[in-house]
Amino acid sequence: MQETLSNNIQNKIILITGATSGIGYALSEIYLKNNWIVIGLGRDKNKIRKFFIDYPDSFYFYQIDLNNFQNANKIFEEIFSKFKNINTFILNAGIYIPENFQNFKFINAQETFNVNVLSIYLIIEKIKSFFELTHSHTIAIISSVAGYRGLPRSILYGPSKSALINLAEALKIDLPKVNIKLINPGFVETPATSINKFKMPFLISAKKAAKIIFSKIYQNGFEISFPFPFNILIKFGRILPYRLYFKITKRISNKDEK
Ligand SMILES: NC(=O)c1ccc[n+]([C@@H]2O[C@H](COP(=O)([O-])OP(=O)(O)OC[C@H]3O[C@@H](n4cnc5c(N)ncnc54)[C@H](OP(=O)(O)O)[C@@H]3O)[C@@H](O)[C@H]2O)c1
Repeated sequence: MQETLSNNIQNKIILITGATSGIGYALSEIYLKNNWIVIGLGRDKNKIRKFFIDYPDSFYFYQIDLNNFQNANKIFEEIFSKFKNINTFILNAGIYIPENFQNFKFINAQETFNVNVLSIYLIIEKIKSFFELTHSHTIAIISSVAGYRGLPRSILYGPSKSALINLAEALKIDLPKVNIKLINPGFVETPATSINKFKMPFLISAKKAAKIIFSKIYQNGFEISFPFPFNILIKFGRILPYRLYFKITKRISNKDEK
């Protein structure tokens, strides 16, 4: 099914940010296996050596620090001048610093918003100036179910992901012809989540996450949230009145601290 959907696409060229690890790595692998040309971005080239060996003709890598906009701007100009037929952009790179009121630092807030949010504006601005966007283009933004509502130990990450949900919704309205996708994963086993000390409910592998995304990205619909039924439970939390919502989150937070 997923192969058929992806086979219908003419220019099978994708750009994936954060391709060196976790979900981005697994997505790159799935696209490469399905005969796409993958332009992967990240800071650490060493983590993706395997792709250079296995896919010498279809994998391209650009070293980029999405916390350094001046440099990133130049690199996007270089990429978009060279690859004029990119069909899909998966804006996946992100950082997770689990801080709360007591221990947060402004510098971490700055990095979180630079990498998770502002770098996406930079890419979108570049896409706007290099591409005539049509119905054949896909722009997917990886947010998180953590962006739905305020969560414990999420004074930085949650708000950054909330901004992305709002941004994807606004883009969907502004660009009705373009396939804009909002991707909201639950817990996925990656280096980012390996720092969590609590038991992550409904944890899935990065490979599984990538498989779900790949199977749905070219289908109708705006949001891809998973895994089921965690996504439904979390979505339900969105409609709870504040009093009840805070009661539940306080209980979860106290339990995790024990
Ligand atoms: N894992 C989860 O449970 C989960 C759940 C919901 C949403 N998400 C979201 O999914 C996306 C991928 O997360 P992941 O769990 O796969 O994390 P990960 O394994 O830590 O991968 C993060 C990727 O982002 C890149 N990156 C980080 N900082 C960067 C920077 N300054 N410049 C350029 N690239 C940078 C990293 O590349 P380098 O290290 O090579 O720079 C890496 O490829 C993130 O947006 C995350 O918020 C994850």
